[in-house]
Amino acid sequence: MKITSITLLTFFAITTMHAQTKPYLDKTKPTEERITLLMKLMTLEEKVGQMNQYNGFWEVTGPAPKGGDAQTKYEHLRKGWVGSMLSVRGVKNVRAVQKIAVEESRLGIPLIIGFDVIHGYKTLSPIPLAEAASWDLDAIKKSAQVAADEASASGINWTFGPMMDVTREARWGRVMESSGEDPFLGSKIAIARIKGFQGDKMEDLLKVNTIAACAKHFAAYGFAEAGRDYNTVDISNSTLYNVVLPPFKAANDAGVRTFMNSFNILNGVPATGNSFLQRDILKGKWKFNGFIVTDWASIREMKNHGFAKDDADASAKAVTAGADMDMESHYYVAELVNLVKSGKVKEVLIDDAVRRILRVKFELGLFDDPYKYCDEAREKAEIGSKANNDAVLDMAKKSIVLLKNEANLLPLKKSGQKIALIGSLANDKTSPLGSWRIASDDETAISVLEGMQQYKDNTLTFEKGADLTIGKTTFIDELVFNTTDKSGFEAAKNAAKNADVVVMVLGEHGFQSGEARSRTNLDLPGVQQQLLEEIYKINPNIVLVLNNGRPLALPWASEHIPAIIEAWQLGTQTGNAVAQVLYGDYNPSGKLPMSFPRNVGQCPIYYNNYSTGRPVDVDKNVFWSHYSDVEKTPQFPFGFGLSYTTFEYKNLKINKSEFNKGEIVKVSVEVTNTGNYDGKEVVQLYIHDIVGSLARPVKELKGFELTNLKKGETKTITFTLTDKELGFFDNQGNYLVESGTFKIMVGGSSDKGLESQFELK
Ligand code: BGC
Repeated sequence: MKITSITLLTFFAITTMHAQTKPYLDKTKPTEERITLLMKLMTLEEKVGQMNQYNGFWEVTGPAPKGGDAQTKYEHLRKGWVGSMLSVRGVKNVRAVQKIAVEESRLGIPLIIGFDVIHGYKTLSPIPLAEAASWDLDAIKKSAQVAADEASASGINWTFGPMMDVTREARWGRVMESSGEDPFLGSKIAIARIKGFQGDKMEDLLKVNTIAACAKHFAAYGFAEAGRDYNTVDISNSTLYNVVLPPFKAANDAGVRTFMNSFNILNGVPATGNSFLQRDILKGKWKFNGFIVTDWASIREMKNHGFAKDDADASAKAVTAGADMDMESHYYVAELVNLVKSGKVKEVLIDDAVRRILRVKFELGLFDDPYKYCDEAREKAEIGSKANNDAVLDMAKKSIVLLKNEANLLPLKKSGQKIALIGSLANDKTSPLGSWRIASDDETAISVLEGMQQYKDNTLTFEKGADLTIGKTTFIDELVFNTTDKSGFEAAKNAAKNADVVVMVLGEHGFQSGEARSRTNLDLPGVQQQLLEEIYKINPNIVLVLNNGRPLALPWASEHIPAIIEAWQLGTQTGNAVAQVLYGDYNPSGKLPMSFPRNVGQCPIYYNNYSTGRPVDVDKNVFWSHYSDVEKTPQFPFGFGLSYTTFEYKNLKINKSEFNKGEIVKVSVEVTNTGNYDGKEVVQLYIHDIVGSLARPVKELKGFELTNLKKGETKTITFTLTDKELGFFDNQGNYLVESGTFKIMVGGSSDKGLESQFELK
């Protein structure tokens, strides 16, 4: 458009008019004042409207919907009764809904547009559990930046992530979305992701390529009994304060702008109706000043929990407990106005919720430019860019964990080798994308086959052996596995017979983990185990590349297969990452963020357990804490992961033997690369508070450092421990630092390392 003096005059006239009728648009005023000015103009209905979030509902760029739920939502938008929408994406669509809110409603309050940007938007990073295996906070932050960049270029300004539910349950499908079993690692990763999404400081939210983050699910969702999603949670105060809450506290301290509550109960109270969690802890003790969104329809589900008798009761309980925004229950919009008018809900509660929601909208700069994320040129240039692909490839390589490498089968030689590549997952361009990838397209991952084909000086033969699934695989339907068709086995065996090395890509389908994807078996689904054993009989030189969204229990493979690579679901660049690791162009350095059990009966199994009264078989009889049929240790412990090189730890030192509380404990160790490759090691520090006023775990991670070591190089790594690392929460949530002996362990895994100790006076 050509800017003429007439258009400029019109612009100034509109701006002046706005400043008079809409004083909250005046950028020069402080945010809290702008909110007050706006709220003074809002009717009760409009305030409640801000607390209402709807899922995308019709072809937004088409004609207005006539009839049904869509029409109601559309009319609510025009009345200013909708504060947020989720799952509307793409500049064209976002602009269309935003236009209705801004240009057709009375006060023109912009929508905040939410979406599950969990491990990338269109260019996908590894699943979050895989990223956690990198222990590389810079790379994880970068990955969240890429996700924010693409999502914001698509019109989105709020992600429902990161999920920071600590979990010890491999059976629970949502472990794929977590950072694993440890609250210390989980807290660091939560901070990295939040800064990646939101930027380093609050003002960064005003940029076009950052989005608001959401700490979810508050709280204890990761402790669903027996790993069945949405199941009852029943945990101790000690677990709540020491394991569940720390990542959320870290997220709040890092400035996360929103929280999402959870589906589960805690002490019989659904999280959505839980004042203790939302008001006392989060908004009270932690002084969180952003807003809380419910999980999907979780206000409605309080009726199923047997905690609310009807819609009004559920709404009153949720708002009283501090849930600010209703995601898709449709209860707040229907009930809250009457509840306030009848005196059952105090208007100050509504005002508090609305202020919080508006605050985040102001912080995002939505009032200054509601269309700031609606730039088609940016959308075109940034989504799927080379730079974003490079970043997710880097993240993917860093996420791979080498679990076993006997006879130095790996890395593969770059020429002169005959390689058989077997397994339908090796040629799959969809499954490696993982779960939670709503904005990505099927068939867009680089497959392992494509990755390996780039190494042209070897002979590569591919045979799928057997299909993994039957029929269509979708985000919402149960998967059907191939448990009978072995017609491809013969061809696979023939390929194996003639090969020097067999690479087998086996594991779970990408949609086998994620929300509502709980399992009671942690084995290789379908006929994959049979295929593996048949091939092994022909050629035992097997490199097993695992694709999975959770820890698997693979006792046979762990015993027989000489080389095993944990390659999770690595996203868009899967095949390139796997091939570079297989061929030694990248030396793996990942470490498991969750223990891998020997069998499912060991679950939940985790490294930071308590000692019990009978930890070892002192009397050499059966009366000690163990299993009769399997060792009690995991197959692969938390923190474990190999490299193509080897590392030696020596000279563990603590700067003194006795400390006063408040003093800094310095722990140092020398790490040497003793192998034949340059490599990276995750040096881990664990503590054990031997005697406490409450029993303390046998080990707790309290520091880690990722260090690059050239062949033959030695580095001294120094950790510091302060009261922040040495104390714990009692059962009332008070933080205690107690005198006594602290054992220290430093090593490359949670199961072994150099040990020392000091006294805290
Ligand atoms: C999940 C949330 C998610 C929400 C919106 C729910 O079912 O539990 O994690 O953010 O849906 O898609």
